[in-house]
Amino acid sequence: MIPEKEFIQNLQLIDRFRTVSGSIVECGVWRGGMSAGIADVLGNERTYYLFDSFEGLPEAKSIDGKAAMDWQKNVHSQTFFNNCRAEIEWAQKAMKLSAGKDHIITKGWFVDSLENFAPKNEIAVLRLDGDWYDSTMVCLVKLFPKVASGGIVVIDDYYLWDGCSKAVHDYLSKNNITARIKQFEGGNLHYIVKE
Ligand SMILES: C[S@@+](CC[C@H](N)C(=O)[O-])C[C@H]1O[C@@H](n2cnc3c(N)ncnc32)[C@H](O)[C@@H]1O
Repeated sequence: MIPEKEFIQNLQLIDRFRTVSGSIVECGVWRGGMSAGIADVLGNERTYYLFDSFEGLPEAKSIDGKAAMDWQKNVHSQTFFNNCRAEIEWAQKAMKLSAGKDHIITKGWFVDSLENFAPKNEIAVLRLDGDWYDSTMVCLVKLFPKVASGGIVVIDDYYLWDGCSKAVHDYLSKNNITARIKQFEGGNLHYIVKE
């Protein structure tokens, strides 16, 4: 789903943080290709956690913006991808082919699956790709505190969807976090380095 250039940029960005030890978490994995790519870059000595409903995106709300609601209505568009729905078997297959042999794929809505989630170690890379406000916010609430100092939070949809950017701003403001939102090499990829 992700264009090749952005896929590579994600891997280049994450490679710069390879000295940070800890687990890797992706929320919103679709067919698991990005998590598998990250595993090939960061290797087999970490635990990779993948979270997804494997039922596609929840319904967009007004907080997600008009563009998001219009996108979800346009079921015949080339970017719809069946509302980003993928069977879990795709992600299982992708991870089996990757270097990330120690991986756990959890099916369910983030609000449930993250409720009692306790990674083995602090999180070195948290990749958020859940598109909407609520999806992004619940991941930040549950997982940002578990990110290691010096670790990164990659925000796939910060530039694309209003709800995602608003959730990031709201979370940082509510928690008095002064970390800056960084842009990778002037492109659409944004991230935060946890202080
Ligand atoms: C854009 S796709 C992810 C693409 C994937 N990271 C990649 O690079 O190929 C968004 C995914 O987020 C998942 N998702 C969004 N909100 C969710 C939620 N609240 N709970 C669980 N999964 C969610 C959808 O099922 C979908 O697979």
